[in-house]
Order: sequence, then structure tokens, then C-alpha cells
Amino acid sequence: MDSQTMIDHCLKHTLYTWTATGRVNPLPVERAEGVYMYGPEGQRWLDFNSQLMCVNIGHGHPKVIDAITRQAQQLCYVFPGSATEPRARLGKKLAELFPGDLNTFFFALGGAEANENAIKAVRQFTGKQKILARYRSYHGATNATMQLTGDPRRLRNEPGMPGVVHVMDPWPYNYSFGETEEEITANNLRYLEEVIMYEGPQYIAAMFIEPVTGTNGILPPPRGYLKGLRALLDKYGILLVCDEVMAGWGRTGKLFAFMHGDIQPDIVTSAKGLTSAYLPLGVMAMSDRIADHFRENVFWGGLTYNSHALALATAEATIDVLVGEGMIENAARLESTMKSEMARLKAKHPSVRGSRAIGLFGMIDIQKNSKGEPLAGYDSSHPAVGRMSQFFRDNGLFTYIRWSGIMCNPPLCITKDQLLEGFDIIDRGLDIADDVFEG
Ligand SMILES: Cc1ncc(COP(=O)(O)O)c(C=O)c1O
Repeated sequence: MDSQTMIDHCLKHTLYTWTATGRVNPLPVERAEGVYMYGPEGQRWLDFNSQLMCVNIGHGHPKVIDAITRQAQQLCYVFPGSATEPRARLGKKLAELFPGDLNTFFFALGGAEANENAIKAVRQFTGKQKILARYRSYHGATNATMQLTGDPRRLRNEPGMPGVVHVMDPWPYNYSFGETEEEITANNLRYLEEVIMYEGPQYIAAMFIEPVTGTNGILPPPRGYLKGLRALLDKYGILLVCDEVMAGWGRTGKLFAFMHGDIQPDIVTSAKGLTSAYLPLGVMAMSDRIADHFRENVFWGGLTYNSHALALATAEATIDVLVGEGMIENAARLESTMKSEMARLKAKHPSVRGSRAIGLFGMIDIQKNSKGEPLAGYDSSHPAVGRMSQFFRDNGLFTYIRWSGIMCNPPLCITKDQLLEGFDIIDRGLDIADDVFEG
């Protein structure tokens, strides 16, 4: 099919997510390889967001394709009550990879389903109902995970599952908990302790966090936050669930983002990079004491596609590539290039307010004036953002600009030269933001 036929048929017969389908302008993609995507007429785009921060090992890796083919020829799917070789092998591998006593795994189809089942697990394990989550978070689009989510996508889906109490992040959007990172951590945790007191710790099962916030700003926590949070939750017998759907699998330069804070969660949820999205798969990892509970007590949850053999074989091959080809180390190594390129763009473009990067997880913030006001405010847009997106697309770069933040999250197999190629296109696109900069 040519690009236009693909676009016309997709728009006529399928719905697009998070948008009115009449307003979307889909990118016609025919194939993808490594860090590049290709259109039917030979167009090429550098993937600067790993699609939805999920194709961590890059596109079309032959070892994963081979593993999928071999598994498909042998066994695609059997009922969740069976034992299969991919299930046996992946369970063992994950127990070796996840730190501490996170030794038991429940497989779902994606991030939201992993979080849905984590909500069930913490409620059934503790016998408590309330859950804490943060405003600057995204945890999925199912009914329960939409309520866990703090960002504006929740607002359009309310009311939903009751029982979630939202709290401010250490980095709220328009407020500061202090000057230094230590002060921010201390003040945020003091505020959180007061919320716990008001809500009653005896009713709170768990707190869900993204250890490095993803879509809502690529925000690594301030110094000491993860350790302080873990201690605070322990003090009140509240479980800690780390949502590593986006930040996990090497994105931040470590296998999981919580490892930067040297803490041990009770539950970890993940998806995306687990299979690099070659097939859909999510996972909930639980500590021994929670797993032991469910050896004696029924886990009231299930899915037709739980422990799907083809998806599990895909995960095993993906992890072998991610770890075996040194991609996590590559992400850690290229963090300095990310930061130096971002600093270069800030020095050159008045419209750049600031930036952040941890591993290959980064964002550039655009401002509309020297007071630092965002080009597009919270949950809003600006015409220049649309023009920049179009510029990137026309000049061979695929990424997202969310509100005022340009996403910089390429596959972890990217080379330094390819990374520079991406920042060069962003550099030229920022002239559009400079043009509307008010001074
Ligand atoms: C942190 C986080 N949690 C959960 C999800 C939901 O994952 P999925 O879209 O696979 O359901 C996402 C998706 O972007 C995410 O970034």
C-alpha cells in the first residue's frame, strides 16, 4: 500500500487513542530496523522516542525475530493453568535479574494490566483498601489504573474505582517544596506523612510511584527521596509498588530506575521494554512474603492470555539482547552526550528553559518568555508546538512534544552519531519556538 491509501483506510475504519480521530495525522510506517522507521515511499525517520518508550532494544532485532518464529512453530498459547518451557525459563531468569526477594511473577498483557493486578494483590494481601498515588503520574488506561493515574487523562474518565488518594510529587508542576534537593525531599515527605495521618495508615494498602516519572516530565526524584519514602511507608506498614513500565529495562542506565535509589520495593510492575513491544506483555513481580501469602490464599485475578507462551519467549530473547549486547551500559554512557547536547541547545536557543536526562530518558522544556512560563501550559497546547512536530516529521525525526516538553528517549542501541543526528534536527526545529519567544 502507498502512504495515502494506508492513511485513508486507517482513518476511515479505526479509532485512534487519546485524540479525536478526525484530527489525527497518522505516520505511515511500512517497516523499521534498529533506530529507524521507514515509510512506503522510502521516507526515513530516526526514532527518538522508542515509539512509546518501549522499543528499548531497537526495531527488528534478528535474534528476537528468530526466537518468536521458533516459538510460534512449536507452541503459541496454552491455558494459564499449564506449565510451559518459556514460562519456566522466563520465571527463573527474572528471579535472577530482579534484586532481593522479588522472585515471583504474574504475567499480563501490558502495563495497565500489570498495575490492575498489583492493585488487587496489595488489597488482597493487606486486607486494606486505600492506595496512595501521585498527581504527576500515568499508570494506565483501564478503569482502575486510570484512577491511579494523576495526570489529566484521569479527569476525563472520572468517576471510576474509589479508594485512590492523590498526593503531590516531590516536583509538583507549579509549586516548590524547597531550594535544595534535600530540603525538597524532607518537606515533601513531611507533607506525605501528614496525608497518611489524615487518611489513616490502617486503611492504606500501598503507594504506587514511578521511580522516575515518565510521560509527565521525565523527572528523576530529588536526592534521598526513594530511601526516605521507603522508610516512611515501612513506618506505617504501607507497601511500596514501583511502576517500572516506562523507566525499567535499562532506560535510565540501570536495569530498573528504583535501583538508583538503592531501595527494595514490595512489588514492581513492568511491560514495554520487557519485550521491547515486539509482543504485548506485562509483569508484576512480588516479594517472597507476598508470594507466600498467595501460596496459601487464592489470588483473585486471571486473564485468558496470562503467561502467553509466545510473549514469554519473546521476553526471554529480548532480555538476552538487552543485557548481552550491553545496551544498559550504552544508555548509561550516552547520558553525558544527552546532557551536553541539551546544554548546547539551551545556550543557543532562548526558547529552551531547561532539560533533564537520566540514561537515555530525557526531556527538553520550551518556554515562551524569559520568566520561564511554559510555551504550552499544563494540559494545553500552542500552535508552535504543532509546527515543530511537523518540522521534525518532515526532517526525518519521530518524537513527541507533550505540552512544552520535547521527548528524547531513543532506543538503547543508538550510537553517539545517531544521537547527535537527532539533536541536530531538534536544534533546527527549536528555531520555530524561538520565533514565538516573547523575550
Ligand atoms: C509508567 C506507566 N505505567 C503504566 C503504563 C500503561 O502501560 P500500557 O499502555 O502497556 O497499558 C504506562 C504507559 O505508558 C506507563 O508509562
